[in-house]
Amino acid sequence: MAGEATIPGSERVAPKKGKDNLWTRRNFLGFAGWAAFGAFMTALLLSFLRFLYPRVLFEPSPIVKVGRPEEYLIGEVSEKYKESNRLWMVRNDEGIYALLAICTHLGCTPRWLATEKKFKCPCHGSGFKMNGVNFEGPAPRPLERVKISLDPDGLILVDKSKTYRFEKGEWDAPDAFLKLS
Ligand code: FES
Repeated sequence: MAGEATIPGSERVAPKKGKDNLWTRRNFLGFAGWAAFGAFMTALLLSFLRFLYPRVLFEPSPIVKVGRPEEYLIGEVSEKYKESNRLWMVRNDEGIYALLAICTHLGCTPRWLATEKKFKCPCHGSGFKMNGVNFEGPAPRPLERVKISLDPDGLILVDKSKTYRFEKGEWDAPDAFLKLS
């Protein structure tokens, strides 16, 4: 409307055209270029660091010290190393053997039922006698035994990297059983 008063500073400013807009676009493109370069250099640096420090998986040692023979009572199954190493230590009249606490059906961890003198798998009901032989449920074979020996200090060493299977006649191997006189 003619003669309408305007408040100073409230005038609309038309968007700039031409050279100024071009300059803004150039700035943006420059920034994007530097960002891409920075990302590239970061990726390069990370891959270099990864080269310097390769990923190494430190597996726990398969050899476990499980105490002295006198710590195990004849006729009992020790579950002391079940949680930490998936091992049962079994003492009979003649010596000690170590059983892997891994069900031979699908790998669950069975439980030792002392009153029933058997290992029972909670997953599908397989049962194993105290010597590790399967007698019920879907488990196709006995539990596995692992290498057992005495070190020079009289400590029992169990080596989980070496297993012995009953069905292959391996339980008769000297290292599958620690004979105690
Ligand atoms: Fe033990 Fe199936 S995993 S019975």
